Formats: sequence, C-alpha cells, structure tokens
Amino acid sequence: MTLTSTADRVGPGSVQDKPLIELRGVGFAVTTPVSVRILHPLDLDIAAGASVAIIGPSGAGKTTLASLIGALQPPSEGSYRFDGTEMTGRSLRELAAFRSRHLGFVFQNSQLIEERTAIDNVDLGITDAGMPGAERAERCLRALDIVGLTAIADRSASDLSGGERHRVAIARALVKNPSVVIADEPTASLDQATGRSVLGLLADLTDYGTTLIVVTHDERAASMVDQIVSIVDGHLSRVQP
Ligand SMILES: Nc1ncnc2c1ncn2[C@@H]1O[C@H](COP(=O)(O)OP(=O)(O)O)[C@@H](O)[C@H]1O
Ligand SMILES: [Mg+2]
Repeated sequence: MTLTSTADRVGPGSVQDKPLIELRGVGFAVTTPVSVRILHPLDLDIAAGASVAIIGPSGAGKTTLASLIGALQPPSEGSYRFDGTEMTGRSLRELAAFRSRHLGFVFQNSQLIEERTAIDNVDLGITDAGMPGAERAERCLRALDIVGLTAIADRSASDLSGGERHRVAIARALVKNPSVVIADEPTASLDQATGRSVLGLLADLTDYGTTLIVVTHDERAASMVDQIVSIVDGHLSRVQP
C-alpha cells in the first residue's frame, strides 16, 4: 500500500543511481558568543529508500547532522544535494518549502496536541492547504492504518499510551507522503517492547519507498537498518556497511 503515487519522488528501482542525499564537506560551527565547532566537515551519501541509523554518544552532534539533512538550518560549509539539487545558498523560505514538500519529522516527544483526536493530530501533517476535506480524511486514515491505529482515530491524544502517541506522530510525519522521514531519538522515552515496535514500524517505511533517517542510542536499531553512521565528538567516525 502507498499513500499516494510515488511519481514525484525518487524511490527504489528508480532509473537514477545517484544518491537521494549527498553531503560533501558539510560541517557546522557557531561563532557567537564563542566559536564552537559542532560538526566537522563530512561526506555522506544516502540512497533513496534506504534506512540509516545515526548513532553516537550524547552531545556528539547527531541532532545537528539530522537538522542539516532536514534543512532545519543551513550548514556552515560544504554542499548538500537533495535528489541532485543543491540546497545550500537557499533562503529560509525556500528551505521551509522544501521541508514541507519532502520531509516528515518524528521527534523524541511525540508533540501531539492533547485536546485533539488522533486523526486531527495526523491531519496537522498535511501541508497542502488546498487539499479537499474528503481527500484529507482519506489520507489520514491510510496513515493511521499503516501504524495500526485506525480503531482509535477519534480518541483524544491525551487518552493515548506512549506507544500509541509515537505511532500517531509517525502517521503525522507520513501523511504527506514524504520522500524522507527523519526521526530523532524516537524511542528514548519508551519502554523496551514499545520502543522495538516503533523502530520496526519506522524501518518498515522503506517498504513504501520512503527513506528513513533515525537518530538513536538504541542498539536494536542497528539490526533494522541498511546503514549505520557513527558520530563521535563532531566527527563522522564510521559508516557501515
Ligand atoms: N546552536 C548551537 N550553539 C551552540 N552549541 C550547540 C548548538 N547546537 C548544538 N550545540 C552543541 O553541539 C553539541 C552537539 O549537539 P547535538 O547535535 O544536539 O548532539 P547529540 O544529538 O548527539 O546529543 C552539543 O555539545 C551541543 O550542546
Ligand atoms: Mg540529539
């Protein structure tokens, strides 16, 4: 099952061999109030439809790397190409439009609006303001179906369990059919079993052609993804395989 046609994105089996995401010499430093090097220039390729775990100790620069890939902030140097298009040098407005079109985010805390229902929270992920109501509802239900939550679509977010909340957050990230889902420590606040099921759900997104980037401390993630990127002290220390 797919959420919509995949015609407007590069999925597995695409005729293009080049990576969906290409970082070349991408680094990040802040200069005020003091100069701090957070991410040393690194090269990284991520194929369309791949699943990638970014691992490493706390403070290593994992979230910073995810935020650069997610175009939440521009890198201090280097080149970031997405599907062959250079992203550096774009305005903040252009980056926002890019995120809205291509990326879905899942954060550590599911960040639901408590007083809204599960399906209304999923609807927040639809960025096309002109989409007719019937299509919106249909899409939200399909996204909830992927995470196995159609039965609780009308339940208030405040009445959901931790695992259900994360699944709603995943559905919200999926509902616009993004090329890439970026999840930053999505299992950090969950118990073992729930964390495993959330990781499994995220890893399964690649079955739909979605590219997954997951920042995690969770060792189980290693066995669920195609590629592991380790960050230590702001350096890319290892890429497997
Ligand atoms: N905008 C910023 N200004 C100053 N320091 C920052 C900024 N963003 C991140 N850092 C610092 O950079 C380091 C890496 O942060 P982060 O990428 O959040 O690490 P991780 O996600 O691996 O825990 C941390 O020491 C953090 O405090
Ligand atoms: Mg982090």
